[in-house]
Amino acid sequence: MSNAVPVITVDGPSGTGKGTLCGFLTDWLGWHLLDSGAIYRVLAQAALDSGIPLEDGRSLSVLAARLDLNFKQEPGGIRVMLDGADVTDAIRTETAGAAASRVAALEPVRTALLAMQRDFCRPPGLIADGRDMGTIVFPEARLKLFLTASPEERAKRRYKQLKQKGISVNLHDLSTEIKQRDARDTGREISPLRPAPGAIVIDTTDLDAGEVCNRVVALVQSTYHKIPLKNRQ
Ligand code: DC
Repeated sequence: MSNAVPVITVDGPSGTGKGTLCGFLTDWLGWHLLDSGAIYRVLAQAALDSGIPLEDGRSLSVLAARLDLNFKQEPGGIRVMLDGADVTDAIRTETAGAAASRVAALEPVRTALLAMQRDFCRPPGLIADGRDMGTIVFPEARLKLFLTASPEERAKRRYKQLKQKGISVNLHDLSTEIKQRDARDTGREISPLRPAPGAIVIDTTDLDAGEVCNRVVALVQSTYHKIPLKNRQ
């Protein structure tokens, strides 16, 4: 990891608008994107496929080290490839999210995935999306963001997102799952979800995606004013 490569960390629970913001920042700045949640989801999916129990940290860390995972940049967005197969949509289900949250609570798993995540830090820069990007993976990042939103608003957003993707869910079940996942992600001993020291917290409950992006554009410009920005608007 090089300190010369600029990193923006974007942490927070699901449904706060991290994905939309990170997609915007990646396009705007022309930097790389690390979707760390996708890595935990792929590992959980690979474990389910190969019958490895989701609490077996040792076997999961071996699986993590062998993971044949690739992110393919395509015109419609980034595709996630596991063993050459496109798993982008398969890993977006709530089942995969819950399984990811379980494997993510295990210390051997987090340790096994650390180097893989840091390897994404390459010129011209990196947008790192996750739960512990600012606290553990890239603590030296100059701009650290932490998005929050009310649980009700987050459940509604996830519901809409999943429906648009043709995935049928029940709002009440979704709300319960979100609360369980939050409790696991914030309550775990290793790398719990919390704002990094110095992180700027943005509550997106009453903001639309454009308003969040505008606020962050101003923060990026004041933090990185000496760095030439590609695709500047
Ligand atoms: O962001 P996401 O919903 O795709 O993440 C799925 C789960 O993975 C999330 O509930 C917790 C875990 N995760 C994590 O522990 N650390 C990260 N940096 C990213 C995700």
